[in-house]
Amino acid sequence: MTEDREEAPPISPLDALRWHIEMGVDELIDDQPIDRYATAAIPPAAVTVPSPSANSQPTRPAAPASPGQPLAPSEGARDAIAIARDANSIEGLRERLETFEGCALKFTATNTVFADGDPASDVMFIGEAPGVDEDRQGLPFVGASGQLLNRMLSALGRERTSIYISNILFWRPPGNRSPTAAETAACLPFVQRHIELARPKVLVFLGGSSAKTMLDRTEGIMRLRGKWFDYMSEGLDTPIPAMPTFHPAFLLRQSAQKREAWRDFLAIQEKLEEIA
Ligand code: URA
Repeated sequence: MTEDREEAPPISPLDALRWHIEMGVDELIDDQPIDRYATAAIPPAAVTVPSPSANSQPTRPAAPASPGQPLAPSEGARDAIAIARDANSIEGLRERLETFEGCALKFTATNTVFADGDPASDVMFIGEAPGVDEDRQGLPFVGASGQLLNRMLSALGRERTSIYISNILFWRPPGNRSPTAAETAACLPFVQRHIELARPKVLVFLGGSSAKTMLDRTEGIMRLRGKWFDYMSEGLDTPIPAMPTFHPAFLLRQSAQKREAWRDFLAIQEKLEEIA
């Protein structure tokens, strides 16, 4: 057989940079690339193991699961249930999350993004995942979608500081990729306990993945938004009225949908007045 393929011309650094940007690379993590396959060959004794604490499992490696050491998907979620249930205050939950190592996203994120606003608020918003700005600042909804949310709240006559806000994931997925089922499952017990401890009068789920995860539904946000659901979990004695609505990032791309979102916000306000 003859080899008639021409050798590809060398790629200029500028073209290589353009290609990375097109592929969604939006952040430099280190000056030098790391060959994770080579690091997997390091003998176990050289791997740092976090010191045992009351709430963390003692043998978890302090590094992302490498090809040689996969983290069993169910393991993180199992630990999360016991650890989250053990928290009796929001501060206690935050502390437990800071030492929790059962979600691989934690190892690529800069900060844990727990919550912002007033934990005693009558309304709690649950978004999807921290983006690059949230990861840098360690606070939810501080980027462009957070600014739109702030404007919508102030149109309702509410300050951002008067609501409570968090996400279904506490760490930014690298490159804003979709989280795996195991990553979501490892965060979910903390989100559920967070809601139980804050015990808002009304819950708002921002975006399809927040709504579907928290309500355990399969329909998309177009079907779910604008409707009231009863949110319930083991540690609640009565259900909390919950409304899914569009994610502000979606509204930034689809401004025609802002009307519907505004309608949802008015219904949420009305519900809060009714319950007060
Ligand atoms: N989008 C989210 O869902 N959450 C954030 O914190 C930021 C953007």
